[in-house]
Amino acid sequence: MKLVTCGLPYANGKAHIGHLRTYIPADVYVRYLRLKGEDVIFVCGSDSHGTPIVVNAEQQGLEPKDLVDIYHEHFQKIFKELDIEFDYYGRTDSEYHHERTREIVQRLLDSGYIYPKEIELAYCPKCERFLPDRYVEGTCPYCGAIARGDECDQGCGKHLEPGEILEPRCKICGTPAEFRKQKHYYFRLSSFKNFLDGYISRLKGTENALNYAREWVRGELRDWCITRNLEWGVKFPGDEELVVYVWVDAPIGYISFTEKACERLGRNWEDIWIEGRAEIVHFIGLDIVYHHCIFWPAMLKGADYALPDAVVASGMVKVEGRKFSKSRGYVVWVEEDYLRSGLNPDYLRYYLVNYTSHQRDLNFSWHVFRDKVNNELIATLGNFIYRVMHFAWKNFGRVRMDVDEDVLERIRKAKETIEDAIARWEFKEASDAFMELAGFGNTFFQSLKPWEVIKSNRDEAERIIASALAVVRALSVLAYPVLPRSMRAVADTVGIDLENATLEAVLQIPDYVEVGKPDVPFERIDDEKMEELEGIMMERIKDGAGEGIKMSERIGIEDFQKLDIRIGKVLKAEKVKGSKKLMKLEIDIGNEIRQVVAGIAEEYEAEHLVGQHVVVLANIRPAKLMGIESDGMILAADVGGKPVLLKPERDVEPGVRVR
Ligand code: MSP
Ligand code: ZN
Repeated sequence: MKLVTCGLPYANGKAHIGHLRTYIPADVYVRYLRLKGEDVIFVCGSDSHGTPIVVNAEQQGLEPKDLVDIYHEHFQKIFKELDIEFDYYGRTDSEYHHERTREIVQRLLDSGYIYPKEIELAYCPKCERFLPDRYVEGTCPYCGAIARGDECDQGCGKHLEPGEILEPRCKICGTPAEFRKQKHYYFRLSSFKNFLDGYISRLKGTENALNYAREWVRGELRDWCITRNLEWGVKFPGDEELVVYVWVDAPIGYISFTEKACERLGRNWEDIWIEGRAEIVHFIGLDIVYHHCIFWPAMLKGADYALPDAVVASGMVKVEGRKFSKSRGYVVWVEEDYLRSGLNPDYLRYYLVNYTSHQRDLNFSWHVFRDKVNNELIATLGNFIYRVMHFAWKNFGRVRMDVDEDVLERIRKAKETIEDAIARWEFKEASDAFMELAGFGNTFFQSLKPWEVIKSNRDEAERIIASALAVVRALSVLAYPVLPRSMRAVADTVGIDLENATLEAVLQIPDYVEVGKPDVPFERIDDEKMEELEGIMMERIKDGAGEGIKMSERIGIEDFQKLDIRIGKVLKAEKVKGSKKLMKLEIDIGNEIRQVVAGIAEEYEAEHLVGQHVVVLANIRPAKLMGIESDGMILAADVGGKPVLLKPERDVEPGVRVR
């Protein structure tokens, strides 16, 4: 038995495509496991607690619960529309979750893993309250950057413990805070060092997560302050003035939601979380590995619960080469940008699992998205499936399944490759394998030309189409976990019952197959749609750019003076062979001629560039692009990921400095 969980989304904002990199691959994984006949329970839920939610609600004049209601519903809707199907989707502000959390915290108290300690905390004399986490702003004690109470978010990125921040100010009223003594509770993480050392060496999952975890256990493990001065949250057992820190109760959601799922399924949750009879697999993003590989297993161990077996962490999603930034507009919202544009949810599922290995960062761009949909999903998979189904339906209706042995062998190979890749959480390899099978089917169909053969030899044409149909039937199962909506329709047309199908079924060929009238599985994304999609992002980036740059991100004139920027003149230009984007340029920068490689070939013609003035950053270190040395960088405006070259407003001699 397996229990699969996903990092709980904060019920504090809308779903963006970064979130989906946890949920889509997990759903794909669960669907493959079920096709293999494995017994799987799949749970998730909204993370309802934490100061951001409280602060956000306060700013909008709402109660925290009202805010959670809104986003809880939002996430459920998104999951439904993207065919992400949990056995239970709960929320951590539920009664049953509070009970389970208090039970676990009580156990940790009883066994001495939680202890009280008097500490000095930021307190606002005007608001007359202690200032937990995001209620306080101040200076990071490690790097001096402006930081918020729980994290140096603009500087070194370190987690800050309560009481650590320097020069605290109240975030609500701006008053300088005082330090006041108060009793809080700590989790004795330091005493789990040996346990964690052994545990992490046995833990399975993706290397990115395990590498970080190994690094951390080697360092110092500090005890965690696990209580906060808030009303919203799980009341701390024995001190109802305090609530437990959100990162204590959130992962306990994995347990409380399993309880609920088991109630529904008529199973016993204790088999999983107490007896350890299931393999527990957590899907998360790389940003929350510490919580899942260090803090959470230590808590479970201390409370005598079963331990997770694997942590599967995805790389982070970026947008058009930038770190996700909601305020700057570098974000793609799932509902308003994607679903509302009428795009097929399967496209996004395919894009997110097939773009790159699960562990690597993923740089979202609408162009790559479109190319993958049009050139791969449609040109390879969709066209093949549709042509075969259409030919079979039109000419035969019922096909005698006399299937070529080589074709069966290809199907077997694809199935095995997929099983192997899924066991290693390599979703790209798995989806490449079914695309390769589709490519093979395409070549098979094209080269044997059944539409010509049928004119003289109907039996032979039927044999060809039978083999092609076996591939289509196999694809409807093998690609189903990634493309559930589209493959359900295909399976229906070619007589496969996906409800009861297994991966083995792709090799079991019935004597006859009845083919129904097929529908085209996918629609192309045309230029008009692309413009619309890019337009949405451009608007948002423009709006975001107007927001003003924080003082902490400003630089001094001495920083600018380090840049040697000059006017250059293009002497030669030539597209780099084998690259769509790169252009090799020779540029006169006054006293020397530089070879520069720039990613402008999609927007500029070589012959139009020669003789043009450009702006060149001359003192950047040389780099190699596709093996070609590039010594300098030409400057361009970044218009939604596309370059627009800068030039001086009138002719200027090459070499003139830009200041
Ligand atoms: N509430 C916590 C998780 C608690 S788990 C006990 C949280 N919430 S979140 O809404 O910020 O993120 C939800 C999931 O999405 C997490 O698995 C997180 O890693 C993932 N991602 C959120 N933004 C992401 C990217 N930009 N890129 C990839 N995944 C990221 O964290
Ligand atoms: Zn810092």
